[in-house]
Amino acid sequence: MNAFLLSRRQLLLSGGAFALSTVAPRLSRAAPHSILRAAPHTSQILPSDWPATPTWAYSAQNPGPVLRIKQGERLRVLLQNDLDQPTTVHWHGLRLPHAMDGVPDVTQAPVQPGETFLYDFIAPDAGTYWYHPHVNSSEQVGRGLHGALIVEEPNPPEVDRDEVWVLDDWRLDRDGAIRNDFQRAMDISHGGRSGNVVTVNGRIPEPLQVRKNERIRLRLINVANARIFGLNFENHDVHVIAIDGQPVTPHTPQYDMVLLAPGQRADVILDCTGEAGSSHRIIDAAYQDDASLLQNIVYDPGAPVRENAPGAVPTLAPNPLAEPDLNNAEHHDITISGGAMGAMQGAIYKGKYLPIDELVQDMRIWALNGVAAHTTAMPPMLNFTLGKSHIITVKNDTVFPHPMHLHGHAFRILSQDGAPVPHTPWADTVLLNGRGTAEIALVADNPGDWLFHCHVLAHVQGGMTSIIRVA
Ligand code: C2O
Ligand code: CU
Repeated sequence: MNAFLLSRRQLLLSGGAFALSTVAPRLSRAAPHSILRAAPHTSQILPSDWPATPTWAYSAQNPGPVLRIKQGERLRVLLQNDLDQPTTVHWHGLRLPHAMDGVPDVTQAPVQPGETFLYDFIAPDAGTYWYHPHVNSSEQVGRGLHGALIVEEPNPPEVDRDEVWVLDDWRLDRDGAIRNDFQRAMDISHGGRSGNVVTVNGRIPEPLQVRKNERIRLRLINVANARIFGLNFENHDVHVIAIDGQPVTPHTPQYDMVLLAPGQRADVILDCTGEAGSSHRIIDAAYQDDASLLQNIVYDPGAPVRENAPGAVPTLAPNPLAEPDLNNAEHHDITISGGAMGAMQGAIYKGKYLPIDELVQDMRIWALNGVAAHTTAMPPMLNFTLGKSHIITVKNDTVFPHPMHLHGHAFRILSQDGAPVPHTPWADTVLLNGRGTAEIALVADNPGDWLFHCHVLAHVQGGMTSIIRVA
């Protein structure tokens, strides 16, 4: 068992103890379920014969503690900011009340150093989600502030193991330090800030030890700033049962590769049908010319867990999402422009049009519908009528891929690059290919100003943020 998979009971105990000793006086009667303390930390990311890495962490863990609640349950988390800069927590993928969404200057004031903020909401949907700051996120997420949030189904499918894999990469120097180059123009203007060390749950991945005929539910979460993962499980037919937390018709992924852009999640069923004593590779093949071994699946030589291979792959019960009415939907367009090698001539910035050479001086070189953002508190790019169905056509006018994320809602991905998407999955993040298009549809049933932005965090730095107003 992975030490990192805290049970809810353990979490309650550790969080509770901390709350009593240090923050109880500030609270009214009800103590929070748990506390997330954002603070500097030191983590052994590299193998133990290498130097440790100074990071930022939630509750002294990289990644942060796995928060687990049941669908429909209330989550109460006290954020304590012990960083030397403001922060917030955004609950990525959850359909929350606006005030709990963690967007600075839109849903709340940024939490200043030494201050706390109580997040308190009910999780409407089961699934695999995650949490991370939404202030200076390229640096704060990049230094290690992120963690998994698991909302359990009332009747979860039977598996032998339920494992969370937080996939990440880090840009480290030989002394183990995180390279302090979060303002690097090359990253902002190109594909984002990729690392040179890939980790699973904050460590160099170790072989996955399995037994024959075991069934494992893997909850894969890509928290990397820019890296896209494409996992191939050699000799195994993995079945995707949920995308971005939302149940999907179980299917083997296209090209036998579980593709995960930053922000995206997939729940997969891994049935261990290999031979006892055998070993197989998990290959990360997202980048064509640069496939690499993530880790091995190693079978115990002993007796199988059960005589036969596990039976049919389970289908998860759907979450209570409103189905968009495609025939009576309002239509909207979003165009992504900018970046290196782009054709963007200029964009609206701080309320006025600037030519590209002036935008470059501020490193704001990405735009959504012609606007380069300088803050999250901006006028809406689109206005959605509350309760109505909406179809958005997103057009990527750049050569770079962009995982576009919408807050507060889940949407169906109808088509990509002109072709219908099998199973029209629900998602909160859709990966636009270079020069690609996507059509997504949703019912705007959650009132508020919601961010729509790229999850390549250096692109956010470079202006790729917008607001969709639902009212
Ligand atoms: Cu995970 Cu606004 O992001
Ligand atoms: Cu982007």
